[in-house]
Amino acid sequence: MKKNISLTRYLVEQQRVDGLIPGQLRLLLEVVARACKRISFAVNKGELGDVMGTAGSENVQGEVQKKLDIIANETLIEANEWGGHLAAMASEEMEGIYVVPNRYPQGEYLLMFDPLDGSSNIDINMSIGTIFSVLKKPEGHPGVHDSDFMQPGTQQVAAGYCIYGPQTTLVLTVGDGVSMFTLDREQGSFVLIEENVKIPEDTKEFAINMSNMRHWDAPVKRYVDECLAGVEGPRGKNFNMRWVAAMVADVHRILCRGGIFMYPWDKREPQKAGKLRLMYEANPMSWLIEQAGGMATNGRQRIMEIQPTQLHERVSVILGSKNEVERVTGYHLEAD
Ligand code: AHG
Ligand code: MN
Ligand code: MN
Ligand code: MN
Repeated sequence: MKKNISLTRYLVEQQRVDGLIPGQLRLLLEVVARACKRISFAVNKGELGDVMGTAGSENVQGEVQKKLDIIANETLIEANEWGGHLAAMASEEMEGIYVVPNRYPQGEYLLMFDPLDGSSNIDINMSIGTIFSVLKKPEGHPGVHDSDFMQPGTQQVAAGYCIYGPQTTLVLTVGDGVSMFTLDREQGSFVLIEENVKIPEDTKEFAINMSNMRHWDAPVKRYVDECLAGVEGPRGKNFNMRWVAAMVADVHRILCRGGIFMYPWDKREPQKAGKLRLMYEANPMSWLIEQAGGMATNGRQRIMEIQPTQLHERVSVILGSKNEVERVTGYHLEAD
């Protein structure tokens, strides 16, 4: 670990070095971090606070909302709406965009988030997280519209997640590498634990929900079959499997020790989209993974180059150690 460098100090010093974090963006990142801190404390309370179980409502994707999905969403909105750094927000838990109310100044950034990722883990005391992505509002017109959000992931100016696990750790990129900060609960601040995170190019660990195997497309089946064949198979090595069922936790493991994560399109979905959402799950995670030397595709195309057409658009996701993602992507392109 570096010498006690807080997130605030890191952001200020980073700005001096490469100018990638202008004032409004720094405020935005600090505010998101503060909101994550509050969510972390709510998560920690569990049954001791009124935070467990379902809220009795559904989101726009037809998923049952947990109380924490809503608490986390509200926490992020309340923290971010007054600071003057944002024009609008969009979230998994809100059907349309949330424009900053007139009583506050309008900023130049757009914030997208998955307030609580891994909702099915909440009630079983397993890792969950918050994922976020930041875009700049296009210039040249007043007000904010859905269309302002329709920018490919390559346009992101910041992205990250906060994992609520045994430790609460914020992972961030502004385009010059990936840094990790762990919440020091006594000090009340996020402290830098690692800079320039790098993912090994090769791995022996894959992550996929195997219960969907019968629905997979042939290239995914081929890849996983070859992993399962182990040392006797074409890969000549044994693979291990992990699936936390929270993308934040699976991606965090990959950033820490490599691996490949797949939530591919499968035959139940006629539109060839997967389960995960492009704007606030796949894009920010893809950028973090690429910044750490990994790769992220939808099987055929770099995820960050996909032109979004809808706020809640879904996408097939294959990301992680470069050589493995290249292999699976190659299998898709061969099959076309
Ligand atoms: P969310 O809880 O935000 O809706 O996202 C859950 C996602 C993702 O985090 C995870 O990788 C995947 O759903 C797990 O899906 P399965 O339940 O199909 O394993
Ligand atoms: Mn959900
Ligand atoms: Mn999610
Ligand atoms: Mn969610």
